[in-house]
Amino acid sequence: MGNSIDNYSLVSFLVLVSLSSVVHIIRAGGYVPTEKFLLNCGDTSLATAEDGRKWAPDVGSKLFGAGNSVVSKAAMQDPAVPSVPYMSSRIFRSNFTYSFPVVAGRKLIRLYFYSSSYDGLHAANALFSVTAGSYTLLRNFNVSQTSEALSYAFLIKEYSVNVDGEMLNITFSPSSMASNTYAFVNGIEVMSMPDIYSNTGGRLMIVGYTTPFTIDNSTALETVYRLNVGGNDISPSEDDTGLFRSWSEDLPYILGAGVGVTVAADPNMTFNYKGIPRYTAPKTVYATARSMGPYSAVNAQSNLTWLFSVDSGFNYLIRLHFCEFTESITLINQRVFNIFLNNQTAQEGADVIAWAGGNWNIGVPVYMDFVVLVPGGSPQQDLWLELHPDIAAKPQYYDAILSGVEIFKLSHTSGNLAGLNPIPAPKNEVNPSLVLAPHSGHSNLKAITAVGISGGVALALIAGFYLFAASRGHKHGMVPSASDDPENTALIKSDNHGQKDID
Ligand SMILES: *[C@@H]1O[C@H](CO)[C@@H](O)[C@H](O)[C@H]1NC(C)=O
Ligand SMILES: *[C@@H]1O[C@H](CO)[C@@H](O)[C@H](O)[C@H]1NC(C)=O
Ligand SMILES: *[C@@H]1O[C@H](CO)[C@@H](O)[C@H](O)[C@H]1NC(C)=O
Ligand SMILES: *[C@@H]1O[C@H](CO)[C@@H](O)[C@H](O)[C@H]1NC(C)=O
Ligand SMILES: *[C@@H]1O[C@H](CO)[C@@H](O)[C@H](O)[C@H]1NC(C)=O
Ligand SMILES: *[C@@H]1O[C@H](CO)[C@@H](O)[C@H](O)[C@H]1NC(C)=O
Ligand SMILES: *[C@@H]1O[C@H](CO)[C@@H](O)[C@H](O)[C@H]1NC(C)=O
Repeated sequence: MGNSIDNYSLVSFLVLVSLSSVVHIIRAGGYVPTEKFLLNCGDTSLATAEDGRKWAPDVGSKLFGAGNSVVSKAAMQDPAVPSVPYMSSRIFRSNFTYSFPVVAGRKLIRLYFYSSSYDGLHAANALFSVTAGSYTLLRNFNVSQTSEALSYAFLIKEYSVNVDGEMLNITFSPSSMASNTYAFVNGIEVMSMPDIYSNTGGRLMIVGYTTPFTIDNSTALETVYRLNVGGNDISPSEDDTGLFRSWSEDLPYILGAGVGVTVAADPNMTFNYKGIPRYTAPKTVYATARSMGPYSAVNAQSNLTWLFSVDSGFNYLIRLHFCEFTESITLINQRVFNIFLNNQTAQEGADVIAWAGGNWNIGVPVYMDFVVLVPGGSPQQDLWLELHPDIAAKPQYYDAILSGVEIFKLSHTSGNLAGLNPIPAPKNEVNPSLVLAPHSGHSNLKAITAVGISGGVALALIAGFYLFAASRGHKHGMVPSASDDPENTALIKSDNHGQKDID
């Protein structure tokens, strides 16, 4: 098994690329990927997943760079786990590299993992790192521990990485922290993507500081949450933008009983993507929202609050999506609110109609980006998002609204994105943040959508250890930025000329 060139595989990739182009061209305004690889690792023939997407085999593939490996089927199939791409895998006892021929530019990378025994090896001995070019995506990643901690039957990790050259190398390295460790992967997806998260204009500030923050080519992102607020799960094939993203419902992340009310647009409503590309988010995201509800007096005394468990010691990009679509809110200053992130004011006077272009701009999607510095500490901590009516603005209604949330972990200047593996909750105790998370064994449908989400949920929580010192020479002069030092103090020190906006 190995490095021989198999024309069948190559041809099937090309076929996939052209098929997907045809499909996307008819989606007006959607993104048309110029490169698209869906690799079913350890399989020998083209396989169709439950959602109809076609996965190419990696056996004999031209994409192999270097390394030894064996293929193996999973020892058993959890009923919640789809066969493709999870039942086949490639196992690595030493470093192994897949080399994807790509042109320069941003790539979406999705890694698919199902914790199981493979090739007679114990699931708990899978402990490994994954790099993509000069970026460390995962370090000492324990798939079994992470799946258990998050109650997911399988995990999808999603990244956005800029590639300078003509080759994207993805390397799997068994950990040297213990003997008998191995690496494995069930599926790899690599596709070109538009550069939709960079921010080089300097408008972006870290919440609570006044120093500009830049997200540019040197920044790699990991998707940790992607929520369709007030709506349902959206599976990758339902995200009709060409980017095949998973969006999950937001209810599990709301703090307490104050869940507000959900609203949905008239199904015939047309959405006018005036200032933003159509692929920013599908219409389904903007067509639902959560607001505080009709009682101004109650709203004035409360916050609509979401909590997100994230890895400590990183900066996060938080993208909030908004759209007004009801007949009762059509004018500036009818619904104005404040946005808090980690108890700091991120935005005062949020007025979606004003952002959309002024009076009568309903059905116009907009988004706002914020960067939050999450200091070092325990492996994971909660990131707070709160909305509260902006009473000082004297709006007609005391209310707030939100349609979507995306949270991305941003790479350190060293290129590291790996955090620590989440710790499973003690048996028989309920981890409140996971109460509504799907458990393996539930119906297929739920598990699939939820997992895509684990692309969100699971993923962010995942990670490796801080074993730096080894700078990867990836400096990009962002100040302040999360230091590679996991200590809180180092993070704060890096902002030596930052000023607090508020107390
Ligand atoms: C990618 O990996 C291949 C095989 O290991 C190697 O020959 C090549 O130099 C690598 N390319 C980059 C850009 O690292
Ligand atoms: C980012 O990288 C892409 C692809 O390598 C390149 O076309 C683009 O000019 C780069 N942007 C900046 C601001 O350097
Ligand atoms: C991975 O996690 C499992 C479950 O928490 C644990 O039993 C196992 O020892 C870990 N594996 C390694 C190699 O550390
Ligand atoms: C394997 O990869 C790891 C992490 O990327 C690296 O530290 C190690 O030096 C590599 N080992 C070999 C033998 O190349
Ligand atoms: C949507 O449009 C269709 C056809 O124009 C119409 O039959 C239907 O009643 C409309 N639905 C709503 C909810 O207005
Ligand atoms: C935000 O405030 C809540 C209490 O209102 C507290 O529990 C939480 O730790 C605070 N979060 C941060 C990041 O300071
Ligand atoms: C809403 O959240 C902000 C920021 O954490 C906090 O200062 C404020 O007290 C909260 N208001 C209520 C009513 O909970």
